[in-house]
Amino acid sequence: MKEIDFYEKIKDWDFSMINYSEECLTDWDLVKLINLNANSESKILDLGTGGGEKVLEYFPDCKEILATDLSNEMIKTANANLQKSGRKNITFRQMDNLNMDTPDNYFDIVVARHTCIDAKQIYNTLKEGGKLLVRGVDKLDCWSLKLFFGKGQAFRDIKPISLLDYENIINAGFKNVELVPIHTREYYKTKNDLLALLLKTPILNDCSETEENDEMEENVEIDDEILDKYILENTTEKGILLIRRYYGITATK
Ligand SMILES: C[S@@+](CC[C@H](N)C(=O)[O-])C[C@H]1O[C@@H](n2cnc3c(N)ncnc32)[C@H](O)[C@@H]1O
Repeated sequence: MKEIDFYEKIKDWDFSMINYSEECLTDWDLVKLINLNANSESKILDLGTGGGEKVLEYFPDCKEILATDLSNEMIKTANANLQKSGRKNITFRQMDNLNMDTPDNYFDIVVARHTCIDAKQIYNTLKEGGKLLVRGVDKLDCWSLKLFFGKGQAFRDIKPISLLDYENIINAGFKNVELVPIHTREYYKTKNDLLALLLKTPILNDCSETEENDEMEENVEIDDEILDKYILENTTEKGILLIRRYYGITATK
């Protein structure tokens, strides 16, 4: 299955139906950084916005927010969510992050949360002094779970995507580039909550951001026996533990 078909099928990026809590051990916070860098005159671009869930809930009121996604189904969801939210100055539309058509020297901030990027194209669309804020899912994300299953997203990647993004951002000409690891503990209330996450996300799909083809395993089978073993070894007072590893990158044009 093509990666785009996976997202067209999911249609949103809403996890509110899953019962889990989280503790972050590191203090790199994307929302705080957006708010720190934005003011009422800012123009912000959010790449790979999904159903607009994060933009509508956490992005500040400012002059203009353009939020884009490759998937038309995600954009439909985002526009429905926008209507319900009553927020102003936000536009959702379809765009490929790897073939951007936004104007040069236009945005003050570009945000990319859990999506692919082309650093050079982002560089072009940012104003001089503009900020790039990236949060990504790293190779080590859910590593203990992936080890149980012997597979998963980025499981076979030789170079982690965090390092590739970091190098590409430096090579595109950005200054003050910082790569920060983010370590989060998630606790799932029940097996069904953990299963809901695994069925909705590509965590256990054998796919790679670093390979040329964008094929994804279809209808990933989750071996019940292996999952039960993982749950047995990772059940804590707070729930079923899943260690997440993300990364944050900040950079200035
Ligand atoms: C994991 S979701 C993240 C959604 C949102 N940024 C968030 O953090 O909740 C990844 C999103 O990136 C989009 N995406 C994947 N490849 C893309 C591309 N080449 N151009 C634009 N969007 C893309 C998918 O359709 C999906 O909505």
